[in-house]
Amino acid sequence: MTEKIGAEALSRAAAAIGAGELVAFPTETVYGLGADALNETAVARVFEAKGRPRFNPLIVHVARLEEAMRLGRFSAEARLLAERFWPGPLTLVVPQAAACPVSLLASAGLDSIALRMPAHPLARALIEAAGRPLVGPSANPSGRLSPTTADDVMHGLGGRIALVLDGGPCPVGVESTVVSCLSERPVLLRPGGLPREAIEEALGHSLAAPEPSERPVSPGQLESHYAPTATLRLDAADVRPGEALLAFGAPVPAHAGSMRNLSGRGDLVEAAANLFGMLRQLDAEGTSVIAVMPVPRHGLGEAINDRLARAAAPRPAP
Ligand code: TXA
Ligand code: MG
Repeated sequence: MTEKIGAEALSRAAAAIGAGELVAFPTETVYGLGADALNETAVARVFEAKGRPRFNPLIVHVARLEEAMRLGRFSAEARLLAERFWPGPLTLVVPQAAACPVSLLASAGLDSIALRMPAHPLARALIEAAGRPLVGPSANPSGRLSPTTADDVMHGLGGRIALVLDGGPCPVGVESTVVSCLSERPVLLRPGGLPREAIEEALGHSLAAPEPSERPVSPGQLESHYAPTATLRLDAADVRPGEALLAFGAPVPAHAGSMRNLSGRGDLVEAAANLFGMLRQLDAEGTSVIAVMPVPRHGLGEAINDRLARAAAPRPAP
């Protein structure tokens, strides 16, 4: 069931978390699948509900900076980024604190931890009401499109979770930017809702690219991820017979079939917010191929192009 939010819904959600159950909650980026990050069994249930093939590490969501500082060790630059961009769509990977109480499964046995303080008031209210940090992978079956509405969550995970807090559509629409602060120079592990340019401006230098050996650590980097059922044809300048069109800006090429425009006025923020929802809508119409117009690569365009490339990548055998 989905819950319109009042104090009662919030306290029931917090009680479910306390009992080791799963509660989907809105964040500014996408809906998360929340569970008690300190409870090994609850975290195991998250992997089971999502059908994650491997125990990939999860992001731990906190409501306060002091809580993050208790769980992880922040370098000067990590702290600068947290103070500047939290709450917001930025996840920081830092070394775990010595007595970090977070479930081993949540960090997949690594000695690092991914921390994020979401900006969405309902996410923060749930963490506060639960009185503990929450793991929160995107609330979708593994490998599928991330949910940006409560309906999307129910569609993918209904029956496998205790409840969904319905906060309406997620304003950012793509997952958080993941930055690793383990080595001297922070590394961009996953482009996301906070543009690279903003982070580099705050640091006063550029972010490093991940070493090839770091890639498998971040499943957001698996080639096929965020996959609709339809095939995507990227950077399309025209629309071929039988194709649906995912447009960006104007003018839009001639098309006979369905069309959605990520942003008619060419706004990347609006496009990011529409991305997963429009892919779902075109997919639900049963189109076999979606032609996607080129999207600029700056600002949120980096995350949009990253998700489109993954949605277009060959699928692993089921
Ligand atoms: O916007 C978001 O980040 C959403 C909302 C719900 O907060 N959550 C999300 O979680 O996208 P998930 O589990 O789908 O993606 C977590 C990403 C993965 O790419 C994972 O590999 C990476 O964070 N990650 C987690 N812990 C890590 C660690 N210790 N080292 C490197 N990468 C890590
Ligand atoms: Mg995900």
